[in-house]
Amino acid sequence: MQNNTVYYNDYLQLDKILNAQQPESSKKGNKPAHDEMLFIIVHQACELWFKQILFEIDSVIVIMSKPALNDNSPDLQTIVHRLNRVITILKILVQQIDIMETMTPMDFLDFRDMLRPASGFQSWQFKIIEAKLGLKFEHRHGQHYYTSQLNEKDIAAVKDAEKNKSVIELLNTWLERMPFINEPSFWVNYNSISGKKENPVFWNDYEHIYINSLAEGEKNNETFFKEIFNASPINKDRQLSPFACRSALFIMLYHGYPMLELPFQLLDKLIEIDNQFGNWRNRHINMVQRMIGTRIGTGGSTGAGYLKSAMDKHFIFKELSQLNSFLIERKNLPVLPKELTEKLGYNF
Ligand code: HEM
Repeated sequence: MQNNTVYYNDYLQLDKILNAQQPESSKKGNKPAHDEMLFIIVHQACELWFKQILFEIDSVIVIMSKPALNDNSPDLQTIVHRLNRVITILKILVQQIDIMETMTPMDFLDFRDMLRPASGFQSWQFKIIEAKLGLKFEHRHGQHYYTSQLNEKDIAAVKDAEKNKSVIELLNTWLERMPFINEPSFWVNYNSISGKKENPVFWNDYEHIYINSLAEGEKNNETFFKEIFNASPINKDRQLSPFACRSALFIMLYHGYPMLELPFQLLDKLIEIDNQFGNWRNRHINMVQRMIGTRIGTGGSTGAGYLKSAMDKHFIFKELSQLNSFLIERKNLPVLPKELTEKLGYNF
């Protein structure tokens, strides 16, 4: 065999990977605990998948950071494709919990105390994924100790990730660039339903139709609608501006038009990423309750209690999924003028 040929074992660095399982319970003076090997391997597999997720998110951020993302190039397709890969990996991560749960709480107790204070809580990759997608420090649950268990190098890596533009911030910029609602030339021949002619004529109409569609018990949504789409000054607690939200809603409403299909998929994939993270968090909490009940975590948090509050607070794209409250039935949608439908269709 020639020296320069690629050898499977070397290519995959198996000497490193397969020697990276060092159970605490196998160390001198400790009583061996059979299930610790499984515990280590499942965590390592998760961390490898986190690495791949970060690789995909980083590439998405690079594309979305271009001065003007070219909607007519393969860029958008690439972003959607890679986000879809992230979703598929997240589904696998949820399933891995099944393997972990072949360990019983008594099996876990055999080595649990030897791990302290190590915990998934110290997964800096997990925190970086959250930060790069758009979870801001201000919106985190347990701010006072979210990096308290990390060493200085890992704290620096997490802080660094927080400084750069996140996926949701880049999404906001991209949505704000969408011209359809605000470009008067598209709306010259539009038949206004509300009778209001001033620009943006579509938006005035939509507000009118939506508010009239509300049932008695839903009237609060009128205020909610105005807060999200008409807020001035902009609510600093929100990551998507009113204009970005209008564009996102427009995409959701008219995504049957070819030009809006990929943008719709982009929004849909981001919502799905949130769903899959939610699924993982939920499964992880159930597993934690099953393994340790109400005891505190090895990382020192309240355990399941902490994780539940984090789950409720850490939906990153909730401002997108929230927009589904403002959809109306297809049959009531304003008919778009020809000037616009031509733009939204295939142009040869
Ligand atoms: C027996 C199995 C497991 C138990 C009992 C368990 C327990 C816990 C507990 C109690 C916490 C809260 C922090 C603390 O005080 O320690 C936590 C956090 C965490 N665990 Fe696990 N865990 C298990 C398996 C896993 C696996 C397989 C992963 C995959 C990497 C994982 C990843 C995480 C992550 C990322 C966090 C931080 C979550 C957040 O801050 O929202 N855990 N775990």
